[in-house]
Amino acid sequence: MTPLLSASGLSKTFVLHLREGARLPVVAHAAFEVFAGECVALGGPSGAGKSSLLKMVYGNYRTDAGAIRVRDGAETVDVATAEPRRLLRLRATTIGYVSQFLRVIPRVGARDVVAEPLVVDGAAPDEARERAGALLARLNLPERLWSLPPATFSGGEQQRVNIARGLIAHRPLLLMDEPTASLDAANRAVVVELIEEKKRAGVGILGIFHDAEVREAVCDRVIDVTAFQAAA
Ligand SMILES: Nc1ncnc2c1ncn2[C@@H]1O[C@H](COP(=O)(O)OP(=O)(O)OP(=O)(O)O)[C@@H](O)[C@H]1O
Ligand SMILES: [Mg+2]
Repeated sequence: MTPLLSASGLSKTFVLHLREGARLPVVAHAAFEVFAGECVALGGPSGAGKSSLLKMVYGNYRTDAGAIRVRDGAETVDVATAEPRRLLRLRATTIGYVSQFLRVIPRVGARDVVAEPLVVDGAAPDEARERAGALLARLNLPERLWSLPPATFSGGEQQRVNIARGLIAHRPLLLMDEPTASLDAANRAVVVELIEEKKRAGVGILGIFHDAEVREAVCDRVIDVTAFQAAA
């Protein structure tokens, strides 16, 4: 079986231009794979480089060296070297990303924020809104909030909108950065269920799960990021 994601030789050093070009090495020679239907956690202490690796896989951070091969249908795309337009297409079809915090879109109501990826996929707006409502209901977001922009929502409410938006459309590879950090136990359990459903649908997940209970419930293995620590 070929992996959905295969990263090898990944290195990254931040250069702090405001600090006279000080160099901050984060990871060196990182290598890992994710297969369909499994959930892989990036583990390690705060500052080890977990979020940075996730952003590199999504193409938000440039890599200094190495390859990030993602299976896209019959093709394989290397995120580390892909043209921006190819990267955007890869995100539209293949890589889903649940960031740690919701990037609020001004004036757009929560339900439409969640429905948008389905509309982009070509779903009828009514059907997309219907499915968005169903997912928000599962995540216990009160219906009175559905038409309001999430800007003023609580941290946990925003996080649930963010999770719904990240999970509503099918993407074979899903990246998640601490999706349950602001959730109560009942909503954490819903997210665990949603992740299990994705795995059963063959989705491969690479995530950061601070909550040990959630991690043990959904993750098949943990990659210790400290093994990729770059020498300072
Ligand atoms: N854009 C950036 N510019 C400069 N340094 C950065 C940038 N992003 C991350 N870093 C640095 O890289 C290191 C790793 O950060 P990262 O966010 O990847 O850690 P993490 O393992 O996700 O930590 P946490 O568990 O606290 O979220 C940190 O020292 C951080 O300061
Ligand atoms: Mg992080």
